[in-house]
Amino acid sequence: MALNWGIVGLGKIAGKFVTDLSLLNGQRIVAVASRSHDKAKEFLSTHNLNGNAYGSYQALFNDPNVDIIYIATPHHLHCQLSIQAMECGKHVLCEKPLGVNRSEVKKIVETSHQTKRFMMEALWSRFNPSIIKVKSLIDAGEIGEVSYINADFCHLMLKDENSRLFNPELAGGALLDIGIYPVFLAYLILGMPQTITANGNMFRTGVDTQTSMAFKYKNAMATLFSSFESFSDMVAKIYGTKGNIYINKRWHEADGFVIEKDGEKNMTDLPIVGKGYTYEIQECDYQIAKGNIESNLWSHKNSLELVSLLDEIRNQIGLVFPFEKQ
Ligand SMILES: NC(=O)c1ccc[n+]([C@@H]2O[C@H](COP(=O)([O-])OP(=O)(O)OC[C@H]3O[C@@H](n4cnc5c(N)ncnc54)[C@H](OP(=O)(O)O)[C@@H]3O)[C@@H](O)[C@H]2O)c1
Repeated sequence: MALNWGIVGLGKIAGKFVTDLSLLNGQRIVAVASRSHDKAKEFLSTHNLNGNAYGSYQALFNDPNVDIIYIATPHHLHCQLSIQAMECGKHVLCEKPLGVNRSEVKKIVETSHQTKRFMMEALWSRFNPSIIKVKSLIDAGEIGEVSYINADFCHLMLKDENSRLFNPELAGGALLDIGIYPVFLAYLILGMPQTITANGNMFRTGVDTQTSMAFKYKNAMATLFSSFESFSDMVAKIYGTKGNIYINKRWHEADGFVIEKDGEKNMTDLPIVGKGYTYEIQECDYQIAKGNIESNLWSHKNSLELVSLLDEIRNQIGLVFPFEKQ
């Protein structure tokens, strides 16, 4: 199938997404929208795109040529814009986290059901070939019962109050920006934990810069971490009763993994196409062609459960955004 894409919020990730989309046959960007018309025109020209440049997001939602909207704004706008886009008849791929809290994600999911529009959180790592393969090997019992996961996402960032990452009004902080990935991995492999213990270090603006999370399951544990205060090796380690799997750094965009079993280590190489956003784009195309409103690999239920975990962690570290306060 061929999809006509529109993009909302022309920042860093929007640029990378466009580059990956151009690698796929049949997928076309037909319009982009920014809060500034000049910026939208410049984005088209920088990326050698033909199409409409809009100076308002609503104008893009009204464009009859657009099938699906990719929402690439800061987190605090994801809910409002996803709902607006679906109510205008568009399918939606929305950046992670899909909503800032469970109540937002619930409203988005309800709108997808009401409007019968496809909607997916852009949890791109779910479609990474290494992660797909690792999940199927674990499900097939290749490393026995998983008893321990150790995963993190660390990226040293200059603490700039003007950056969206440190701005509570834009739902900033390490947890929702990068901590979401290790939480996703533990959830993907082990499901919902019985209990969570989380600790955070907060910046003066009130958002977290470091968060550690311990997930307890009946017969397993996961230790997870996210930080803007340092880098880390970002090899995800999954230990089982019959072997271990190490997902290559940076594991959320891995190009392979190592299985350690019976005293031997075997490497599997799985190079990625583009930066790796190609796979989530193909998933949207595949599911929309089938007439589905969600992906079975990263479903509405998955997004709801993931945000429930994030809510609990936020509750424990005291991360509340100004717009959430009564
Ligand atoms: N999947 C991934 O690998 C990945 C990587 C990075 C980020 N992300 C996600 O993508 C989203 C955007 O991240 P980004 O790094 O691309 O951010 P960014 O560079 O700051 O761009 C965000 C864009 O959103 C628009 N925007 C609307 N209201 C805004 C406001 N009040 N303040 C700032 N920008 C506003 C702006 O576009 P206009 O000026 O054109 O309206 C801005 O350029 C986040 O939710 C993040 O979690 C995903």
